[in-house]
Amino acid sequence: MGTTCGLKIDPLYRYVRALVICFILLPCIQLSLGAKTRHLKWEVEYKYWSPDCIENIVMAINGQFPGPTIRAKVGDTISVELTNKLSTEGVVIHWHGIRQIGTPWADGTASISQCAINPGETFNYRFKVDKPGTYFYHGHLGMQRSAGLYGSLIVDLAEGEKEPFYYDGELNLLLSDWWHENTHDQEVGLFTNPFRWVGESQSLLINGRGQYNCSLAAKFSSNTSISQCKLRGTEQCAPKILHVLPNKTYRLRLASATSLASLNLAIGNHKMLVVEADGNYVQPFEVDDLDIYSGESYSVLLTTNQDPSNNYWLSIGVRGRLPQTPQGLTILNYHPNSASKLPISAPPVTPVWNDYNHSKAFTNKILALMGTPKPPINHDRRIILLNTQNKIDGYTKWALNNVSLVLPPTPYLGSIKYGLKNAFDQKNPPENFDSINYDVTKPPVNPNSTYGNGVYMLGFNTTVDVILQNANALSANVSEIHPWHLHGHDFWVLGYGDGKFSADKDEKKLNLKNPPLRNSAIIFPYGWTALRFVADNPGVWAFHCHIEPHLHMGMGVIFAEGVDRLSTIPNEGLTCGLTGKMFSGQKN
Ligand code: C2O
Ligand code: CU
Repeated sequence: MGTTCGLKIDPLYRYVRALVICFILLPCIQLSLGAKTRHLKWEVEYKYWSPDCIENIVMAINGQFPGPTIRAKVGDTISVELTNKLSTEGVVIHWHGIRQIGTPWADGTASISQCAINPGETFNYRFKVDKPGTYFYHGHLGMQRSAGLYGSLIVDLAEGEKEPFYYDGELNLLLSDWWHENTHDQEVGLFTNPFRWVGESQSLLINGRGQYNCSLAAKFSSNTSISQCKLRGTEQCAPKILHVLPNKTYRLRLASATSLASLNLAIGNHKMLVVEADGNYVQPFEVDDLDIYSGESYSVLLTTNQDPSNNYWLSIGVRGRLPQTPQGLTILNYHPNSASKLPISAPPVTPVWNDYNHSKAFTNKILALMGTPKPPINHDRRIILLNTQNKIDGYTKWALNNVSLVLPPTPYLGSIKYGLKNAFDQKNPPENFDSINYDVTKPPVNPNSTYGNGVYMLGFNTTVDVILQNANALSANVSEIHPWHLHGHDFWVLGYGDGKFSADKDEKKLNLKNPPLRNSAIIFPYGWTALRFVADNPGVWAFHCHIEPHLHMGMGVIFAEGVDRLSTIPNEGLTCGLTGKMFSGQKN
């Protein structure tokens, strides 16, 4: 060293160069020292489990249900070596809310970003977490989320950064719903003529625990009910008690992995301050109860300022569908009370299931915190998606602009990158529906629709609007809630409205000032929701209703952008049926 191309380098130059290297590279080195790679080895298998005190089988990860919580810091790389130990099914895991910038092959969507991992195979998911927030992960093949394949994923701020709010402690609640009929039976029912719907769930679970027929709620005044519940089946269904100290502030992290249920959550006597939605900060607002739809996450601040000699109920109940599922319950246990001391007042009552005004009032309060990126003022393209329930050859389906999604066998990511023309329908799916003649308040005049697997090819870096238009289902006077979720991006929720979206009247009502950034948004019955996002993340991304049976019945579309900009796609992201360690070329 010391010479370059045989020329002598003057010592002063060397000194200056050393200084420059120190100043320029040091911060980078420090940054990468702070960021970690978190290596996890997971095995997925079925296990006997009693989520609601009734024994059943669940999809467990490393023998646990729900799966292990991942906790990481912004900038970290998560590396999950996932081995499929199921004997006859493939598996994939999707990291819900993580945008997978630069790693679209790690999105964990079967037939979209990768092949399903075959029994016996191992696949390594390796991706960066770039935004703090409350997220979760779940299976994304068939109905594996309903089968219990899910867990929490929490991303903390990088070292030295501060949240825009203060709290003393944290509690994490992953919400879900649970059926006694297994998902294979449910799937057969959904694909049968006459149609057999999955029905309402038997239980609601909080951190994978519920109490079927345990009448925890009905017997809230009896001091024996919790221990009765504990004795039913196993400890697996005993509620996870929330231990708190009086006069402190707790951050409750809430995420809903439900298959079907829209939920409302409330805590007896306590108010909550909403501060985060889907990994984005919102303008704080106070609520007595909060709606949370499948695919959504929130953080709320809870101050333990009530009579400390009591404990309090936390309850979740069903919204938007005539509830046939008892509330899910657990206890907020003020220290030093005994956790088995039952609250003196009854669990909070869930608002009436079809009180949509209550839900709309809540939803309209969600606005971006100052400093959140604002949407572009104009859009380059607007896709309007009519959500309908339809029939194909007598089978009941959900469709968008009359196309019901059926995923192709070859994953889109590879087939788009390498131009495999036969892998999926090359025609662009419809941008719109006949909005002049279609009456969204009535069942479809012609209920027939078609299967499709075409892709909305989005210009790279263009601004895309999606208007989700709800309509009447097949039966008269029925229009359902659908929580829509976008992979690979956050979108701005520009607004909600009733009836048919009209560019003339509704355009000027859209909120371009402080719309919340999210990855999930709902459409209310007979209403519309307007979303905007920038197609700036090379990859192929699902956009779908997060109600698992609805997605399974075709309620989704596929977006793709900038796939040609991906310099490579790891082989393992392209091929199916490869055994051995995936991405083994990559170190650390
Ligand atoms: Cu959490 Cu494609 O979904
Ligand atoms: Cu739906």
